[in-house]
Amino acid sequence: MKILAIESSCDETAAAVIENGSTILSNVINSQVEIHAQYGGVVPEVAARSHIEVIIPVIEQALNDAHCSWSDIDAIAVTKGPGLIGSLLIGVLTAKTLATTKNKPLIGVNHIYAHGFAAFLTDNSPQFPCLALTVSGGHTTLSLYQEDLSREVLGETLDDAAGEAFDKVAKLLGLPYPGGPAIGKVAESGDANAYRFPVAKLGKDSLDFSFSGLKTAVLRQVQEITGFNPASSFSGLTRGSRKENINKESLDPQSGIIKNNPVEDDGEIIVRGNPRAPIKQSSQPSEMVSKSISSALPKTYQLDEHIVADIAASFQKAVVTALVTNTQKAWLRHNPKSLVVGGGVACNTELRSQMHRVLPEAIFVPPVLCTDNAAMIGALAFQMAQNDMYIMPNELVADSSLEDI
Ligand code: KG4
Ligand code: ZN
Repeated sequence: MKILAIESSCDETAAAVIENGSTILSNVINSQVEIHAQYGGVVPEVAARSHIEVIIPVIEQALNDAHCSWSDIDAIAVTKGPGLIGSLLIGVLTAKTLATTKNKPLIGVNHIYAHGFAAFLTDNSPQFPCLALTVSGGHTTLSLYQEDLSREVLGETLDDAAGEAFDKVAKLLGLPYPGGPAIGKVAESGDANAYRFPVAKLGKDSLDFSFSGLKTAVLRQVQEITGFNPASSFSGLTRGSRKENINKESLDPQSGIIKNNPVEDDGEIIVRGNPRAPIKQSSQPSEMVSKSISSALPKTYQLDEHIVADIAASFQKAVVTALVTNTQKAWLRHNPKSLVVGGGVACNTELRSQMHRVLPEAIFVPPVLCTDNAAMIGALAFQMAQNDMYIMPNELVADSSLEDI
């Protein structure tokens, strides 16, 4: 069975052709990272516009790379949520239209579930019941999956996602977006014991996570070193929790762009374009966005590169400790057959080595399939097809806060 899969939930436009849920025939990813890097994070409105421009060429490229014509494709799969609504809509509408015009069955896929199912694209195929740690820019979730794809959430973050914390702390340290790879790199030359940052303890039975106290501890440390309040370095356009976190009073209803200085909350300033704003109404979006963002930027301060490396390594150690500790607890408590780890933060080499130290059976999704891609959507869609989980095109809706499969 060949599935054409489409992903557009955030800032990657991607399409892939997957055969029998395990073989990647093609995997095309058009990343917008360079476009958003200048803003320090994803600008939802800019992301949606870019998806519109490239989605058809990306799909054509995926079919070409797989040496497939439409007659070879047995089903179309698409991310239906969670994600930025403007971005999701482009993929969902494209998939619905193609399913109708090419007369193909359609499958709507949950992006968060799919991150773990990318492990089915490795030689080491997971078995059910399967424990999954999904660590991305928007989610940090420990889930237990059964063969019928039912999912029990065992633990999740109460505030920031792990990737979001990486992105925000990187910004604070003057490192580029996306913050995870940048922190991972500088941490290699740092001392992970130089600073003692807190690992949230949420009760002995809890498998939940919390990273906002850790983020604030890093902020306080930087304040102490520099004597300057860089709280607004948390500002901005991290990938956030995929919830539309917007301070409504500061939005321009016409353009959906932030007008005033945003509101500070626990050292965090929220500045995002409004993905709900109708795209065609806003003129010159990039210019307007950069104006609103520059008003939120902090004065500059300088951190010594050794200090940056030490803070990065100490911060990374705290995140990794929290992730590994809860995963090990869940493994011992639920005795699953497999453990998979996926999502952008699963690229982190320290996480990989610490997890393998205590749980050698952990199946890590290969780095190229950890960050957003359509191959993982195709992998889960195949499992859904086995369970006859198709949907009529007129019933498929994009859902930015989707929780069910
Ligand atoms: O899964 P993903 O591509 O997108 C979402 O679904 O959110 O994850 C992106 C996140 C970003 O926050 C990025 O900083 C983080 O994954 N990330 C990493 C690494 N590579 C990407 N975090 C830590 N270490 C890395 N090597
Ligand atoms: Zn993702």
